[in-house]
Amino acid sequence: MKQKRGLFGRAGFVFAAAGSAVGLGNIWKFPYITFANNGGSFVLVYLLAVLCIGLPVMLAEILVGRRTHQSPVGAIISLAQAENRHPAWGMVGWLGIASGFMILSFYSVVSGWTVYYFAKCLKWSLSGFTSQDASNLGDTFTFFLADGKWQLLLHGGFMLTTMGVVMGGIQKGIERITKLLMPTLFIMLLMMVGVASTWPSFPETLNFLFHIGPVTGHGILEAVGHAFFTLSLGMGAMMTYGSYLPNNDSIPKAGFVVVLLDTMIGMMACLVMFSIIFSVPEAERGGSFSQSMTILFTTLPRMFYSLPMGAILAPTFYILVSFAALTSTISLLEVSVAYFIDQRDWSRTKATLVVGTAIYIVGIPCALSLGAHPGLSSMEFLPGIESGAFGAFDYLASNWMLPIGGVGTAIFVGWILNSQTSREVLERGHGPIPWFNLWLFLLKYVCPIAIGGILLSLI
Ligand code: TRP
Repeated sequence: MKQKRGLFGRAGFVFAAAGSAVGLGNIWKFPYITFANNGGSFVLVYLLAVLCIGLPVMLAEILVGRRTHQSPVGAIISLAQAENRHPAWGMVGWLGIASGFMILSFYSVVSGWTVYYFAKCLKWSLSGFTSQDASNLGDTFTFFLADGKWQLLLHGGFMLTTMGVVMGGIQKGIERITKLLMPTLFIMLLMMVGVASTWPSFPETLNFLFHIGPVTGHGILEAVGHAFFTLSLGMGAMMTYGSYLPNNDSIPKAGFVVVLLDTMIGMMACLVMFSIIFSVPEAERGGSFSQSMTILFTTLPRMFYSLPMGAILAPTFYILVSFAALTSTISLLEVSVAYFIDQRDWSRTKATLVVGTAIYIVGIPCALSLGAHPGLSSMEFLPGIESGAFGAFDYLASNWMLPIGGVGTAIFVGWILNSQTSREVLERGHGPIPWFNLWLFLLKYVCPIAIGGILLSLI
C-alpha cells in the first residue's frame, strides 16, 4: 500500500514555487551579471528569454508533475511507457536529482554566509560601523571564508533548517513557511525600493536598467542561462512541486504568476542594488567592486553604512536574502526527498534525514575549499576551468546539468508526449488555451535550439 502523497492547499503551489524561484539567483547573481553586461539591452534579452524559453519550460515541468502526481524519475518513466518509448528517458529525472544534490551542497554554504552577515550587520548597526570596519571588509570576508569552523557550522545550520521544513511535509512544512516568508520578502523589498526611489541616484539606476545599447553574444548566452537558473528549471524542481498541484488548479495561471513574481523580484533587487551602488561616487566604489561573487559581502556593507537609514537597511537586506535562500534550498532538497518517498517507499522523515545528511557531507569540500583547507582550495577538480570544489560544482551544475535537463524536458514534452493529452492537462481547471500551438512550437524548436547553442558555445 503506497503512502498517501501530499497536495498543496489553496495557492500553496504559487507560494512554494515562487519561493523556489526567488533566491540568491535574483538578489545576488542577477544584479551582478546585469552590471557586468552593462544593463539595458541585457535586461531586455533576459526578459525575452524568460518569456520565450523559461515560461514554456516552466509549464512543461508543471504539466509532467501534475499529470502523473509522481516525482520526476517515476513521472518521466511512466509517461515514456505510456507513449511506448524507452524508459531511458528517466535519465532526465536522474540528472535532476544529481543536479539538486550538487547545487544544494554549495548553495547551502552561500546561504550560511547571508545569515552570518545578518548577524554581523546587526552588531555593526548597534555598536557602530567605523571607518576601520569599512576598510577591512575585504579581509574580514577572506578570514571568514578561511575559518573552517564557521563554514561548517553555518552550512550545517542552514541544512538543518531546510531539513526541518522539508520534514514538515507539503502543507505543514513547505507551504506554511513559504506563505510566511514570501510576502515578508516582497513587502521588505518593496519598502527598500521605496527608500531607494527617493535617492538622487534613482534616475541613473532607471536609465542604466532600461537604456538600449549593444549586447554581446556572451551576454545573450548568460541571459538565457540565468533565465533557467532563476526560474528553478532543468532539474525537476517545478515538476516535483507540480506533482503536489491539485487537479483542478490552472497550470498556466500558476506558472505565469510564478514567472512574473520571480522577474519582478529580480528587477526590484536591481533597483535597490544599483541605487546603492550609484549613490556612492565612482572613485569611492573601490577596487573591490569587482565582477565577483564577493560583492554582496565586501562592498555592499560599506555602501549601506554610508547611506541614510543604512543601519536599518543593512540587516534587513541580509535577513531578506537568507529568507529567499531558504525557500530555494527547500525545493532543492524536496526533489531528492520526493524520489525516495515515491520510488523507494521511504518515510518522509527517513528520506529527509538521509538525503539531508548526505548533502551536508558532499557540501563539506565546498565549505572548506575557499581558503579553509589549502589542498581543497587549490585542487583543480576540472582541469583548467575552476579550482576548488565550490567552483567546480557550480560550474558543472549550472552550466551543464541544468541546461541539459531543461532541453531534455522540452524535447520530452514537445516531441514525445501526445500533444492532445498535454492540451487537456493544461486546459483542465483553466479553459480553452488559444496559444497552445505557440507553446508547443517554443518547446519543440526554440528551446532546444537556444539551449543547444549555449552548450555548443561552452565547448
Ligand atoms: N532559483 C533559485 C535562485 O534563483 C535557485 C534554485 C532553487 C534552483 N531551486 C532550483 C535552480 C532548481 C535550479 C534548479 O536562486
